[in-house]
Amino acid sequence: MNLPDLKKAKERTTNKVEYKDLKITESKDFLGKKYFLRTYGCQMNEHDGEEIEAILTYLGMTPCEELEMADVIVLNTCAIRENAHDKVFGYLGRIKHLKKERPDVIVCIGGCMSQESSVTTELKERHPYVNIVFGTHNIHELGPMLLDARKDHQEIKVYSKEGEVYEHVPYERASKITAWVNIIYGCDKFCTYCIVPYTRGKERSRKLEDVVKEVLSLKEQGYQEVTLLGQNVNAYGHDLDESLEFSDLLEAVAKTGIARIRFVTSHPWNFTDKMIDVIANYKNIMPYIHLPLQSGSNRILKLMGRKYTKEEYVTLFKKMKERIPNVAITTDIIVGFPGETNEDFLETLDVVDACQFDGAYTFIFSPREGTPAAKMKDETPLKEKEERLYTLNQKINEYSKKANERYLGKITPVLLLGVSEKDKTKLYGYTDTMKLVNVATGKENIGKILDVKITDAKSFSLDGEEMKKESVG
Ligand code: SAH
Ligand code: SF4
Ligand code: F3S
Repeated sequence: MNLPDLKKAKERTTNKVEYKDLKITESKDFLGKKYFLRTYGCQMNEHDGEEIEAILTYLGMTPCEELEMADVIVLNTCAIRENAHDKVFGYLGRIKHLKKERPDVIVCIGGCMSQESSVTTELKERHPYVNIVFGTHNIHELGPMLLDARKDHQEIKVYSKEGEVYEHVPYERASKITAWVNIIYGCDKFCTYCIVPYTRGKERSRKLEDVVKEVLSLKEQGYQEVTLLGQNVNAYGHDLDESLEFSDLLEAVAKTGIARIRFVTSHPWNFTDKMIDVIANYKNIMPYIHLPLQSGSNRILKLMGRKYTKEEYVTLFKKMKERIPNVAITTDIIVGFPGETNEDFLETLDVVDACQFDGAYTFIFSPREGTPAAKMKDETPLKEKEERLYTLNQKINEYSKKANERYLGKITPVLLLGVSEKDKTKLYGYTDTMKLVNVATGKENIGKILDVKITDAKSFSLDGEEMKKESVG
């Protein structure tokens, strides 16, 4: 048994990152069995889910969509807000039932929730039918843990450490067109509300040549788009070499010639002019930046530990808009942080008016055990926070719609990813600026970048039709 420890997870003691090669477990014990996997949380967790799928695939297993059919169940969890927790514990109710009927099913819990001591304690005490608990630092141990699993035994193996960097990680990728590529793991920012630095460990960058190699291999396999992943992509490189920064990596990835490059998430604090220039200079770096604001009140930003003021944010935002042609910028905003007054909230609305974001993810503050903000005095009633969220969302949606309406009648390149869920006669895809478009065109165009004429604009999507070659000229 190896239990997580939040205090240990906070330590940042070493500058040395160990680079290791991952060895995959192969065995015939699970050949022909079925697995059921659910992933919650951010893109990084989704990408971890692709590693979990690769491990299960190597063991000879195939996926199934029904919990009741599975021989192995894996929940890859997220700890960012309380409702992420609730979803997982809700699922556990169903699983408990299933385990009564089919005690042989192996239940595994991984991801960020496993990294929290309160969660593992709860799993140990109240959910003993869970067989395997693993964390974000040892996904690769899932294979050996499964081979050792016994039906009435719970094995918890979670490490709270600064973390290593593994290369040659296998992924069973969800798409053959777009792919995620990790560039930096962990986070050292310790925003006072956030659990991620505890669940993901210290900031550690992959070597530039390893990232480039992965992108080149994806390009050779026919991938059209890569999304470079990190909790703060613009912290990339500093742990490897003082003079190395994200712009160097972006430029090297752009030079591979892959059709589209995206990256998430950017922190407004250390986004340099050089990064802006590289984004502006390369056609295959998409003009889309997710730049979390969190709050528009300097007092709250300070309490959040975000290390920038609203004025600095707006200046950076305007610089990006001026220098990167046609750039779309989206954001994250938290309402109801402890001590946020109505005046603070109105300041957030002011910044939203000044920036007129293309879109935003908005949240009510959720206290996370072990973070400084969870101990801050919070007297605002939930009802008031919900009203603030509602008011904010109205404004955000208004600007999203306005941003979409600017596309009406325009011709824009769209990478087509598959058949539209809503209308099976159409395909869906994304513009360079990350706008969702439903396009009337044939299935043979899946995986292609087509010029599309936008015919309708809604709050959250666009409709369009394929421009025939001759009319594009
Ligand atoms: N690394 C990214 C974001 C990671 S979490 C960044 O720094 O931007 C995604 C979003 O969840 C955050 O931007 C924040 O808006 C929100 N979030 C994080 N912790 C939260 C909490 N305790 N309560 C509510 N929202 C939170
Ligand atoms: Fe969390 Fe802040 Fe790190 Fe983003 S930068 S992951 S919000 S601590
Ligand atoms: Fe959630 Fe962990 Fe991502 S807490 S948002 S899955 S880093």
